[in-house]
Formats: sequence, C-alpha cells, structure tokens
Amino acid sequence: MYAQMVKTSGDKVKTPDEMTAQERAFQARIDADIKIEPKDWMPESYRKTLIRQISQHAHSEIVGMLPEGNWITRAPTLKRKAILLAKVQDEGGHGLYLYCAAETLGISREEMTEALLSGKAKYSSIFNYPTLTWADIGAVGWLVDGAAIMNQVPLQRCSYGPYSRAMIRVCKEESFHQRQGFDIMMAMVKGSNEQKAMAQDALNRWWWPSLMMFGPPDDTSVHSAQSMQWKIKINTNDELRQKFVDQTIPQADYLGLSVPDPDLKWNEDHGHYDFGAIDWDEFFTVIKGHGPCNRERLRARNRAHEEGRWVRDATLAYAAKHADKAHSRSAAWIN
Ligand code: 3HC
Repeated sequence: MYAQMVKTSGDKVKTPDEMTAQERAFQARIDADIKIEPKDWMPESYRKTLIRQISQHAHSEIVGMLPEGNWITRAPTLKRKAILLAKVQDEGGHGLYLYCAAETLGISREEMTEALLSGKAKYSSIFNYPTLTWADIGAVGWLVDGAAIMNQVPLQRCSYGPYSRAMIRVCKEESFHQRQGFDIMMAMVKGSNEQKAMAQDALNRWWWPSLMMFGPPDDTSVHSAQSMQWKIKINTNDELRQKFVDQTIPQADYLGLSVPDPDLKWNEDHGHYDFGAIDWDEFFTVIKGHGPCNRERLRARNRAHEEGRWVRDATLAYAAKHADKAHSRSAAWIN
C-alpha cells in the first residue's frame, strides 16, 4: 500500500502541424507569455499535467513538515525552536496555497488527500530520509530548501496564473528557510569539534538525496519536453541540478565542509563543477515507496488525518448551523 504508485507516462510533443487550430492558439498565448487562467480553454493534458505537478508539489510541502517537525521539541534553544516552528508552519501554508491552485483545475481537495494517504500520489523523494541529529535541520534548510528555491524561482514565470502567483509568495518564504539552515550550519561549524563533525555528517547524508530532488536525468525525464513547451517547467532537471551544484559548492567551502564526492572538480572549460554519478537506483527505490522513511511518513499523515477528523466535522457542523440561520433570517425577511 505504501508505495507511490502513480504511473509515469510521457506523450510525444505535438508539432504545430499536428495541433488543432485551438491548440495552436493556446500555444501561441503561452509563447507570448500570456498567463492561462482557470476559466480559459486548455488542452486536457495541460490540465492533467498541472494537476499532477501541483498536487505532488503540495504533498511534498505537507509531508516535508514531518522530518523537521520531529525536531521542534528538541531544538537547542528557545530562539531556534521559534524559528523552526515558524518554518514548519510556512511549509503547511505552502501546501495549502498549492492545493488551492490545483483545485482551480477541477480536482477536489478530498481527491488529492485520498491519493496522498493511500500512497498513490508521489511527493518529493527527499522527505523519505530521516533527520537524525540537529545538524540535519541545518542541512535540510541549507540544501533541501536551497534546491527547492532553485527549482521554484523559475516556476514564478510558469504559464498557469494561479501556480505562478502561489510560487511568488512561496519563494520569498523559502529564501528565509534556506538562510536559517545555513545559519544553523554556521553555528555548528564554529562550535566544538563534535559539532563540526555533526555538520559534516549531515552534509554527507543529505548531499546526494538533494541532487536527486531535481528529478531523473534529462534523457529519462518523461515529462520535461511537453512541460517545457507549455512553460509548466522553465528549465530541465539537469540544468537546475547543475546550477544548484555551482551555487552550493562555494557555500560548503565557506563553511569549511567537504562535499562527499571524490569526482567533484571545477571545469575551467565549461565554467561549471563536474560532479560524480548519482545513484539513480536509490532514487527509483525511494519513489517506488521503499526509501528509509516512506512507510513512517504515510503512517504519520494517515494518523494526523484521523486525529483531525473531529475538527473537520466540527467546522462543517458549525458552517451548516450558520448557513441554516442565514437561510431562516433571509426567509423571514422575504415573508
Ligand atoms: N521525488 C519524487 N518523484 C519525482 C522526483 C522527486 N524528486 N523527481 C521526479 N519525480 C517523478 C515525477 O513526478 C514523475 O512521476 P509521475 O509521472 O508519476 O508524476 C517521474 O518522476 C518522471 O520525472 P520527470 O522529470 O519526467 O517529471 P517532472 O517533469 O514532473 O519533473 C519535478 C519533476 C522537477 C519535481 C517537477 O515536477 C517540478 O518542478 N515540480 C514542482 C516543484 C516540486 O514539486 N518540488 C518538490 C519539492 S518541494 C519542497 O521541497 C518543499 C520545501 O519546502 C522544501
């Protein structure tokens, strides 16, 4: 049950000759950077691709609250605790904006929640790894939120209005998240030898999974070509991964930490870092539901859903009571 089993399928991108007149007009709007809004006509597969991507993104934010939420009660100081609490709440907020953006495409919140809880929906691979020490909270903020920003800043320009607008707000908050993670890492590396060793250990464990967050290599990314034609994605997975490596290595140097990659080398000719091979078997094992924490994450979400049932029931009952009162008041007024 706890496997993220949505089947991957990528349709071939249509040439202008293969498109209908309506599809050509739609593509022309996208090429002219005119946003597509919920009531506009859109190809069915554009709508489905957006639902898939936005809902996976929303689930990632919601499941992403778990690894860090795990440390709220154990944060080393009151200040760190308040910051972490605010950050985890932000992630919950991001999930809610994104579910709302997906709802504008005709899917209900209940359908998306059911897909997540049953293990059918995907969410980011990264959240299936455990946060073992406080330094992991630093590494998650620095690397995971750093990778998330790299991917999400271009999405502010995506073609679908509600998703693009949600991304503008989300990116502002992610930037604070990344800084708080780097700040934790700075404090750790300036601390005792043991603290510096914890920071290095966290980097060792989070580095490769962070690179996997960008998705499979371009030659096996089934959705990229069509999503880029529709500006649902602005960059390829490999482009963003390379930008992330180029941006992050100087930060690791500044921290005095070393990235666990013996093949990492600055390439003068290309003006980029070359890096070692990513273990794609590990990535596919994780997204098929067999990572270190997949079961634990889905168990936690299912438990939270059950424990929150009385709140949903109470708010619905309250809304129904008020709707009844409003109805009786307007009936009395008409009579
Ligand atoms: N984890 C899980 N599944 C992944 C994945 C990852 N890191 N990367 C790719 N996949 C899945 C895809 O969802 C797709 O599966 P599907 O067909 O069943 O839906 C399959 O692998 C093939 O990959 P593609 O490259 O063809 O898929 P996409 O074109 O959708 O690209 C993506 C993947 C780059 C993640 C893209 O969907 C995207 O940009 N999404 C929006 C951003 C997002 O969801 N980020 C998740 C992290 S959010 C976050 O980290 C929160 C923060 O607060 C820290």
